Amino acid sequence: MCGILGAVIHDGHSDLKGILLPGLRAVEYRGYDSAGIAVMNGEGITVNKKAGKLSILEETLGEAPIEGSVGLGHTRWATHGAPNDENAHPHWDHQHRIILVHNGIIENYATLKDELLAKGVQFKSETDTEVAVNLIAFYYDGDLPTAVRLAGKRMQGSFSMCVMAADQPRLMVGIRNEVPLLVGHGEDATYLASDITAFLAYTRDVTYLEDGEMAVLSDEGTKYFDVQSGREIEKTVERVEWNIEQAQKGGFDTFMMKEIHEQPSVIRQLLERHLPSPNEPVHMPQLDELIKDNDFRLVSLLGCGTAFHACKVGKYVLEGLAKIPCRVMYAHEALYHQAPISNSALTIAVSQSGETADTMGAVKSQKAAGSKIVSICNVVGSSLTRISDQTLYTMAGPEISVASTKAFTCQLTMIYLVAIWIAEKFGRADAAELKHLKEELLAIPDKMSAILQSEKQIEHLARVYRQVRHFYYLGRGVAYPVAMEGALKLKEISYVHAEGYAGGEMKHGAIAMIEPGFPSCILAPKSPLLEKMVANMEEILSRNGEVMVITNAPDRFSKYDVHVFPFPDCPQVFSPLLMSLPLQIFAFYSAKLRGRDIDQPRNLAKSVVVE
Ligand code: AGP
Repeated sequence: MCGILGAVIHDGHSDLKGILLPGLRAVEYRGYDSAGIAVMNGEGITVNKKAGKLSILEETLGEAPIEGSVGLGHTRWATHGAPNDENAHPHWDHQHRIILVHNGIIENYATLKDELLAKGVQFKSETDTEVAVNLIAFYYDGDLPTAVRLAGKRMQGSFSMCVMAADQPRLMVGIRNEVPLLVGHGEDATYLASDITAFLAYTRDVTYLEDGEMAVLSDEGTKYFDVQSGREIEKTVERVEWNIEQAQKGGFDTFMMKEIHEQPSVIRQLLERHLPSPNEPVHMPQLDELIKDNDFRLVSLLGCGTAFHACKVGKYVLEGLAKIPCRVMYAHEALYHQAPISNSALTIAVSQSGETADTMGAVKSQKAAGSKIVSICNVVGSSLTRISDQTLYTMAGPEISVASTKAFTCQLTMIYLVAIWIAEKFGRADAAELKHLKEELLAIPDKMSAILQSEKQIEHLARVYRQVRHFYYLGRGVAYPVAMEGALKLKEISYVHAEGYAGGEMKHGAIAMIEPGFPSCILAPKSPLLEKMVANMEEILSRNGEVMVITNAPDRFSKYDVHVFPFPDCPQVFSPLLMSLPLQIFAFYSAKLRGRDIDQPRNLAKSVVVE
């Protein structure tokens, strides 16, 4: 959940503050409880760290450069110990010989700490990280790679680290276990980071470390080792497609609004890759490779948060269109539930980051039980993609805002394409119907653009409800998971309590909450269930509730005293793609009007790499 970055300057030294702070800014979405940097110059290592956002550290450091040969930095999402100056990274060992930054959790830190306490080590912070650095220092006798390796073998949990030694002015060691660590090969420096965006301004040439691997960065270049055996290993360099402009705000005030506005174009590009024309079959070589026969009996969909909501839409879509039974579970629930699975099952794991620990854990266990794994993922080379049999990349570009927007609609689009691919390949739907659906899917990006033109209307709705403290979102069928997603968006960035319900469930309890000041958002796409949603609305209005309706059948609601946001016509199955946009924009303005920090909401981090 933390962002880490290390840099080793190739010749001499450079302004490392000028490299580390912008790099940390790019990964700050991973955690923003505290920030710190350590820079090695001729006279030793200078450390600066501060509780709070990176901007506080930046203010403290001022304009002056900090020159050095090697440096590392960190933005923290607190796990062990409060977010204060003392617990901020980097952390020294008690004799100030070794310093490091760490992302993840050392699960056996209490045992290791007892062992180190018995050897006379004194601890200053409450972090598991301070245990790690003292363990490395315990093994250090001038050979840093060996010390990191020996300590790495003893540490359990998910962690990646960048490590420096005070007496090694041109050396940095990185180690990875279950959370990402990448090497960036720049012209003037080599980088170690938790995320490509940290060094994207300097290089797109990347080497991905796998679990149990180490990288040693020095004047001799970069060498890689297996932690268990100590054996040197060969690694390849890959070029990533993302560019630095994609990781910047591009004229918008927030990443969230920028990413909301990117949706028509990223979905258009995604469709162009897999469905250039409605007259052609869906092009998915990854599935051709994996699903040769019509022999899988169950699709298991796994994800967390927004990705889970995409999975829930996926169940309606795959069962309805591809006629294949689906099971949907939160990844963290699937991990500890022994649901029967067989080698005739296909698991579709959905994750923007490809680093979510819960999703990784569930996928590993389903794989071990014999399921084939297809991941729908945005981040090329991420951990999930490396354990999947095949990956369908959404290629939406970096999603920096903690609140997921474009990743969600791209995940949905990919699920529609998978459903159409299965239906076509195994003859599970009428050809004319499929052609019509493909035409309608290809028309979605333009309809999204039309919705974005009406942003002001949605901002007005947010003003209407700017004082409320609770909100229901109601939908049926494919609109039900969209209701859950709408509620999640509102909660996570505006801190307004919101719940997404299946419309039919209201009368079983939730309706008891309805009163003036507790509004409901009714999702009412044209469908055989439209009248059921009208009935839901009437039940709420008759109990003095207030209602906002998102619908492509606005005439049906004209005689009611409700706020209506109309969206363009489309087949019901695709309505989640269009309904999501007003809900995202509504959450955005609800948060803005309440003065919230939209891109970095409290208590959250973009990638949840701890269980
Ligand atoms: C969405 O707005 C959230 N920030 C969160 O629910 C997120 O979708 C979830 O943590 C899963 O992340 P992933 O897609 O990277 O696996």
